Amino acid sequence: MVIKRIFLIGFMGSGKSTLGKRLKSELGWDFLDLDDYFESRYQTTIKQYFAEQGEQAFRKAEQALLSEVTGLEQVIIATGGGTPCYFDNMAVMNRSGLTIYIKLPVKTLAERLMGAKQVRPLVAGKSGEELVTYIQEKLAEREAYYQQANVIADGDVLGVDGFVRIIKASGDLL
Ligand code: S3P
Repeated sequence: MVIKRIFLIGFMGSGKSTLGKRLKSELGWDFLDLDDYFESRYQTTIKQYFAEQGEQAFRKAEQALLSEVTGLEQVIIATGGGTPCYFDNMAVMNRSGLTIYIKLPVKTLAERLMGAKQVRPLVAGKSGEELVTYIQEKLAEREAYYQQANVIADGDVLGVDGFVRIIKASGDLL
């Protein structure tokens, strides 16, 4: 299989953007963060957009942007945590590239999100305990979508080199 684009998927705080930027230099491909793309397209923050238009409108706009970026080549795309879980987004990604789920335990996600939750409308303002409960419940709902990824990677143990190895073993890069 020839890989034309790579989609990084996983819960908020799983490190999709951080990994994507590192893979960019390792593979010599472009990197695109779907959340950043959304914010520059709509000239607003995701938090503001949720507040003004609601989550449903966000999901529709996110779906449209996703289908736009499936036309790009030699690009690593960091998706939003909810992207794979709406419409047929997961099937769209699986059809057009290699999908990698960065899997992490609830505890690690909670620790990471604790310091970075204010910009994320779904977790902003939650206490530590509320955050853990939210992640447990949401992850249980989303896991079925994330599990459809071509590659399920243990985000705790796999370094960038490990990801590069898995990608190269999955097909030929365009
Ligand atoms: C969301 C995750 C966010 C962003 C939006 C909704 C989600 O992306 O798309 O706040 O539903 O999990 P990150 O996973 O990059 O934080």
